[in-house]
Amino acid sequence: MEFTAPGKVILFGEHAVVYGHPAIAVPLSGLRARAWTEPTRDGAGLVIHARDLGQRLTLDGDPEHQFSVAAQAVLARVGAPEPNATVNLESAIPSAAGMGSSAATSTAVCRALAAHLGTKMSATDVSNIVFQAERVVHGTPSGIDNTVVAHEEPVWFTSGEPPRPFRSPDRCFLVLGDTGITASTGELVAGVRKRRNAEPRLYDGYFAEIGARVSDARKALEAGELKRVGKLMDTNHELLNNIGVGHPKLDELAAIVRDAGALGAKLTGKGGGGNIVALAAGVDSQTAVTQALTEAGYTAYETAFGGGT
Ligand code: PMV
Repeated sequence: MEFTAPGKVILFGEHAVVYGHPAIAVPLSGLRARAWTEPTRDGAGLVIHARDLGQRLTLDGDPEHQFSVAAQAVLARVGAPEPNATVNLESAIPSAAGMGSSAATSTAVCRALAAHLGTKMSATDVSNIVFQAERVVHGTPSGIDNTVVAHEEPVWFTSGEPPRPFRSPDRCFLVLGDTGITASTGELVAGVRKRRNAEPRLYDGYFAEIGARVSDARKALEAGELKRVGKLMDTNHELLNNIGVGHPKLDELAAIVRDAGALGAKLTGKGGGGNIVALAAGVDSQTAVTQALTEAGYTAYETAFGGGT
């Protein structure tokens, strides 16, 4: 049996969320990581076979790897000894592109391993375990990625607080546009931290500005004021440029989608490359925005949330 987990899109609040401000994220259910187990011979131990990377990881050989950290935590949670099994893993989520690939792959591994051990863990347990694995890769993650991926529903997230499900009465049509440039979350987050330590008042001001936009966006989404949501995305994008996580390609893609009629656009996730997310006024506009990106030579992904589904 196969166990899957979605990618994710941060709609508002990335980076500021690391400093205690709220953020809004939605799952990217069309792009998923999947994992399945097979029993192996006695004494083989647990092998995690990351098939896309051509890597076979073991708990002894790679104890610091995110998948080993996640697997160890599952064994401890379930109270089971290391099984003789292979966890196979594949993912359709582009990696290092701000789409939650590392949280999704860890989540799929956890679920497949727990099932192999004869149990099913709650989304909260999985999220907490994946958070431990995310720390290995990203240093000081806020916890938003593991939360939205493990719960697979739109969330209003503040670090250290239980996530709150988030409802938009209107269907919101999104398009992601991929710059094709990969970037490391750990490095981007560390860069922001360094600049913030050098100029704490300025950066705390930027984070507070972002946090205020996130709160406004929630109200606008709940009131169905999508034009206003789009404007807030544009402002959030500029604030992310101010804290130094932008990239000229991200601005280029944002301009393409705005010209194609998007209500607003911003970088999503760590920045420094990766994806922009654009809000379209409806399904026809979503198609037009996607077409503009693909005609300009970029990969685009469509998703939607809200509206009672
Ligand atoms: O890994 P990404 O690109 O999804 O970025 C995570 C979002 C940040 O706010 C930049 C970091 C965090 O831990 O919240």
